[in-house]
Order: sequence, then C-alpha cells, then structure tokens
Amino acid sequence: MSEDKKTFYITTPIYYPSDNLHIGHTYCTVMADAMARFKRLEGYDVRFLTGTDEHGQKIQEKAKDKGVTPQAYVDEIVDGIKKLWATMEISYDDFIRTTEPRHMKRVQDIFMRMYNKGDIYKGAYEGWYCTPCESFWTDTQAGENHVCPDCGRPVQKAHEEAYFFKLSKYADKLRELLKGGEFLQPETRVNEMIGFIDQGLEDLCISRSSFDWGIPVPIDEKHVMYVWLDALSNYMTALGYPEVDDGISSENYKKYWPADYHLVGKEIVRFHSIIWPAMLMSIEEPLPKHVLGHGWLLIDGGKMSKSKGNVVDPVVLIDRYGVDALKYFLLREYTFGQDGAFTNEVMLNRMNFDLANDLGNLVSRTVSMIEKYCGGVVPAAGADEGPDAELKEMAVTCYERVSKHMDKFAFNLALEEIWAVIRRTNKYIDETAPWVLAKDEALKGRLDTVMHNLAEALRIVSVLIYPFMHHTSAEIRKQIGAEGDVNWEDAKLFDKMVGATVKKGEAIFPRLDIAKELEELEALKAAPVKPVCTKELIEFDDFEKIDLKTGTIIKAEKHPKADKLLVFQVDFGGEQRQIISGVAGSFKPEECIGQKVVAVVNLKPRMLRGLESNGMLLYACGEDHSYKFVETKADNGIEVG
Ligand code: MSP
Repeated sequence: MSEDKKTFYITTPIYYPSDNLHIGHTYCTVMADAMARFKRLEGYDVRFLTGTDEHGQKIQEKAKDKGVTPQAYVDEIVDGIKKLWATMEISYDDFIRTTEPRHMKRVQDIFMRMYNKGDIYKGAYEGWYCTPCESFWTDTQAGENHVCPDCGRPVQKAHEEAYFFKLSKYADKLRELLKGGEFLQPETRVNEMIGFIDQGLEDLCISRSSFDWGIPVPIDEKHVMYVWLDALSNYMTALGYPEVDDGISSENYKKYWPADYHLVGKEIVRFHSIIWPAMLMSIEEPLPKHVLGHGWLLIDGGKMSKSKGNVVDPVVLIDRYGVDALKYFLLREYTFGQDGAFTNEVMLNRMNFDLANDLGNLVSRTVSMIEKYCGGVVPAAGADEGPDAELKEMAVTCYERVSKHMDKFAFNLALEEIWAVIRRTNKYIDETAPWVLAKDEALKGRLDTVMHNLAEALRIVSVLIYPFMHHTSAEIRKQIGAEGDVNWEDAKLFDKMVGATVKKGEAIFPRLDIAKELEELEALKAAPVKPVCTKELIEFDDFEKIDLKTGTIIKAEKHPKADKLLVFQVDFGGEQRQIISGVAGSFKPEECIGQKVVAVVNLKPRMLRGLESNGMLLYACGEDHSYKFVETKADNGIEVG
C-alpha cells in the first residue's frame, strides 16, 4: 500500500556551522517540520531533509582563530545543532553534512557531469568576495564602498585563477522558468530575480584556490569547489544521486526527486532560483517544483546575526517555556514570506493569551466539569440545541480550512482557524453555563450533551494541532481520555468520545507573569553565558611542560621600587623561592603570610625592578584587576596536575 503513497520532499537550507544556530534558523526548521508532520498526517510519504554546509573560507578562518582544525571546529557545532533539533523533536528523515564522503564523492561527480557537458572552463577571477555570504561580486555590485550588496559587510578583493560555470548560457531558460509563476514564491521575489537576470548574468566562478577547506575539484587538485556548488547539491546527494561506487543506492532519488519545496530565507533565494536550476539544467536533471523564500525575524529593525551580537538563543526560550510554546509562537506570529519583528513581549503575550488563556483554560475547565458532573466519563449526547450545531459544524470542517492555508504555507492562518474553534468552544461554555444546568436534576440530559460536545471539540483540536505541537496534542488526549494515535480522518468526526475516562493533569500552559519574565529575559541578555575558554587551544604536550607546585607564603613585603608589586618568599617544602607578583592593589603584605598557593616553578627567572622573581603565583583575576589566591589544601612542594 505504501508503495502507492504520494511522495512529498521538503528541505531546509543546510546551515553554516560557523556559530551556534539562533532563533532565525529555528524558525525555518520549525516551519519545515510542521509541514512535514502535516503532510505525513495527510497520508503522504514524506522525506524531510536538513543538514549543515561545512566548507568554505569563513569556516576555515573561524577554525584558525580558535586554533583547531576546520573539521574539529564544525564537528563541535554540528553536535550542538543536532542536539537542538533533538530537543525540538524536529522530525527530519536525513541530516546531511557536506563533509561526509557520501556527499563529497557525489559533488565531484556532479562537477564532472557539468564539465563533460562543456559548461565548465578555466579562467581568472577578478572581483570581490564576501566571506560571510560566500558570494562573488563585480566592481559595480560591490560599489565604491566595496561592501556586499546582500549583507552590507566589507568585501575582499579576489584575484585568482578559477573555474567558471557557463551560467550565462542558461539565462533565457531561467527567465522562462521564473516567469512560469509556479517555481518561485512569493511572487514579489520573482520580479527581483528576473531583474537580476536582465542585468546580464555573468558566468559563475565555481572554484577557489586561495584556501583549501572544500571539496577538491576532480580535474585540478589546486582548487576546491565554490561552496555554493557544493552546498546546493546536497538536496540530491542526500538522496543518493548520482550513483557512485560506494554501495549507497539512488532509490530515494528515484522516489523523491524532484523536491516539492526548498524552503529558504529570502537572502538565498537568488542561489536557489538561478544557480541551482542552472546547475540542474546543465546535468539534465528535473528541477525542484518550488522554491519558497521566507522572511526574516528582525531584532531592533535589523536581521539577527551573531556578528551583530543581537541573536536570540532558542535554547533559553525552550528551557523556560517549552518546545511547543516556542513552536506555536513562531508559526502563529509571523506571516510567511514577510519579515517580522521578534520581541520578548510579543512572544510572552502570545503565549499567555492563546496558550494559557484560550487553550489551557478550555482543557482544564472541560476536564474538571466532566469529572465533577459526569463522574469523569464522557456521556452520550442528546439532540442538538442552541449553539450545538454551530459548534459541531465549525469543529468538523476546520481541517478543510487548515489544509487550504497549509497549501500556501500560511501557518499563521491555519493556526488562527484552529484557535477560532478553541475560542468558540470557550464561548460555548459561557453560553450553556453548565454550572447552572448542574443545579437541576431535570436538566441532566442537557448537561451531558454539553459535556459530550466539549470533549469532542477538544479531541478535534488535539488532532488539528498535532503537526504544530505534538506534545500538547498528546497531553490533551491523555487528559480527555482520547484513545489511539492521532488520525487526520478523526478531525472530521464528532462522535468518538462516549465512554472515555477523563483525568485532570497539570495545567498545560501555566500563566506567565509577563513583567517578571521580561525582566528575567533581559537579565539573561545582560549577562550572556561567557565561554569558559577565551584563549587559543593548546596541545596536551604544551600543558605537560608547565611545572605547578604547592607552597606557603612565609614572608611578604612591598617592592621598594614599584607600588604595584609584592615580593613573596614561598616555601615549597624544602626549597624557598622569591616570587614577585603585581597584586599590591589586592592584598596587604601581612595578610598574605601563611597563605597556601599554587605556583608555576619552571618559568625562567626574571628581574623585576632590580629584584629576581623565580616563578609565578596563580590567582583568579577579575576584569577590574582584583586578585584572589588560588587556594590549595595540599602540603608544600606537591605537584599539581
Ligand atoms: N549555508 C547556506 C545555505 C545553503 S543551502 C544549500 C546558508 N546558511 S546560514 O546558516 O546562513 O542559514 C541561512 C538560513 O537560515 C536562511 O536562509 C534562513 O532560512 C535562516 N535564517 C538565518 N537568519 C534568519 C533570521 N534572522 N530570520 C529568519 N531566518 C533566518 O545561508
């Protein structure tokens, strides 16, 4: 049966592991995840791909600054990215890393296919390079100020022998593709891209020889491939295309390609709607069905970015509010394709109003009333009265409206439809006033009907929210006693709950004290978590060279010729040494006597204002240059290791 299922292949950009990811990357991945879950629920055979784009000059430079190999550098960050996606339960089917052999081999093969087609030639590159964006620019594009037209950062002059891809050859076909109207959305981006083609497409430089952190060009080992050629190919290599001799089958390629949707941020629409289709035209493979450009989350009016230091860390928000609340907020608040401002206040209000008030209250009121009035068991319903029919109709048809919005990636409108049902159900409680019905035994039948309808409406909500917040869906189903797995068909029915046993649980979304939360989030921002390591990494052998020993200060006095220096005599359990430290601002000499210390004892002796210092004491030093002794309880002369 599954053989006949319609397939659905969706991808996120593969992110640069140059830094930890922030809420902007999370936003894109959460959208792709919600869509993948939604399509699975609708019965599609879904393939959801994400991953990391690990080569390039920027990463090589970052690794160098940190004193580690590029591979070690990216391994650590990718580890963190995978942990973040695991915490968020991102339901990807594959995570591709561009440093994996399965990818590298295939990219080389793709390069050869383009080369054999006659689409690649050797030339020289003369222009400007933006390392953060890994983009080439001409003199005109970089302008007088020599900045990147995409990100506004300074570009570097590049003058290199390089391989070029005949992008210009595909200009007419690309224009046609874009004018077709289906390929790129939203519409506004189409004209922008056509404009770009109309300015005259230049051939694309696709190799670099000034650094080496990349996939080697198969015909010339002095060159590595331009990172975008490497990166864009991921969407196919992850499916096993092309077949190379490594035992990985291309079955998935046959099954899932062409991709239904490449979901990307607006700044990389150009790469996906010009370079990527041109590459595919060159290797004569089908083009993806759609490229969707989403907007940015803005902070203080600008794009969030690590280099500006204004990023929002999703981990902090998940720790405080939970995965579902964060996902709900991201999907509900922003309109697909448009930029949106991120503020803590907007987020907290959304969480309080929609989640704690609307949904949380509905769940707790419904379950409490069924426990109180019906012994905890959902009763059968009698004939419709008053608002019953309207409530039912709205609930059982909601899936249609949700599906329509999801077809357009309008997550916010899909959720708004579900919340309309939630709010209607809350209103239904107020209209039917079960607490009044409960006072009159003769109205028990009506009370049962109301309780039944509430349980059914909530069950439908639990199905509809599943793609967006599956934990909450499960928690609601547990509390109302809904059995079995979530099934999309069940959102169309209103008679599944008779006899179910409800069980009150914790509040699904506790109400937040917004003023307090704002203050605490602000404080977290003011005191960012400082990395423990602030210096270049050293080898173990370097560390081994340091001889650390314990000792006791037996004499301390001011240096006769320098205000900042104290002159110590330190007993190392046999040998005594004179060690001078610049800590007169932090200690009086007399309070140092008897202090146990740790010292570096193999530092070459140095003369300090006429007195010899033979070693160095260790202190914990504050940014204001106040010092504290690094204490030890060991006897003198003990090795510290
Ligand atoms: N490695 C390339 C993509 C290659 S795809 C073949 C890259 N990586 S990236 O790490 O810079 O990620 C860019 C993507 O992250 C954006 O296209 C977007 O999906 C997401 N976002 C990064 N910052 C964002 C915001 N401030 N707001 C919304 N999305 C953001 O480009």
